[in-house]
Amino acid sequence: MSKRYALVTGGAGGMGLATVERLARDGFSVVMVDRQEALAAQETRRLQALGLDVQCHALDLTDEAAVRSLVRSLPPLHALVNNAGVFDERKFLEVTSADFRRAYEVNLIAMATLTQEVAKTMPQGGRIVNIASRAYLGAKNHPHYVASKAAVVGYTRASAMELAPSGILVNAVAPGLIDTPILRALTPERLKQQLVLQPTGKAGRPEDVAHAVSFLVSAQTDFITGQVIFVDGGKSLGGSGA
Ligand SMILES: NC(=O)c1ccc[n+]([C@@H]2O[C@H](COP(=O)([O-])OP(=O)(O)OC[C@H]3O[C@@H](n4cnc5c(N)ncnc54)[C@H](O)[C@@H]3O)[C@@H](O)[C@H]2O)c1
Repeated sequence: MSKRYALVTGGAGGMGLATVERLARDGFSVVMVDRQEALAAQETRRLQALGLDVQCHALDLTDEAAVRSLVRSLPPLHALVNNAGVFDERKFLEVTSADFRRAYEVNLIAMATLTQEVAKTMPQGGRIVNIASRAYLGAKNHPHYVASKAAVVGYTRASAMELAPSGILVNAVAPGLIDTPILRALTPERLKQQLVLQPTGKAGRPEDVAHAVSFLVSAQTDFITGQVIFVDGGKSLGGSGA
């Protein structure tokens, strides 16, 4: 069987890195894209030493010219995982228009630009998975992030409709609290508050998200598109589980 290529954004750390490893173990040739050049190179070398087929490209995904030129340089992709994202906390009455712009620029617009470019290179169909967040249902202290992730879900549904005739299936994964470096944006007190609200009483692991992505890019999902899979320990059910 010929090699299948997958591109994972924000692949140098957290759930992106777990997804890079998982898809490489699934047999993909994986392209990791991240703006953290040194970390991306270090993790790529570690995975290659395990015999996995991984390469990395350092770029800022908000640089549209760099993104277009990267996609043109790659073989046709079977799977795209739009995982890169930014998160920070701001009180509702203090969040600025610059905070909103930054969240939308990375979490939504960069994802949409890359999706358009990659979709053009999928003449035989493919799979796209967007990493949203359980927070899109509503959360306190980061309205700009919540809104940007609700936009990711909207864009997932729109893309699924637009691209289904081309055999490209688009779904989202909405993680809850997952133990990754992004959680450094939370104070210890806020992290404790978040854990209390988890029905399972604990944060998830990056691998929990990677498993869901692995399923969505697999051949078993021929008839699933435009959906959101929550990987959140039940937080989306509402309440604390108490
Ligand atoms: N950790 C959580 O609890 C959680 C919960 C819900 C959703 N998410 C979402 O999951 C995704 C992955 O988050 P994570 O927790 O693994 O975070 P992380 O900070 O560990 O990883 C994000 C990666 O994206 C990269 N990145 C960010 N902006 C970029 C840009 N402009 N260009 C290139 N690379 C860029 C970072 O360098 C980093 O390696 C994000 O979209 C995040 O919003 C995380």
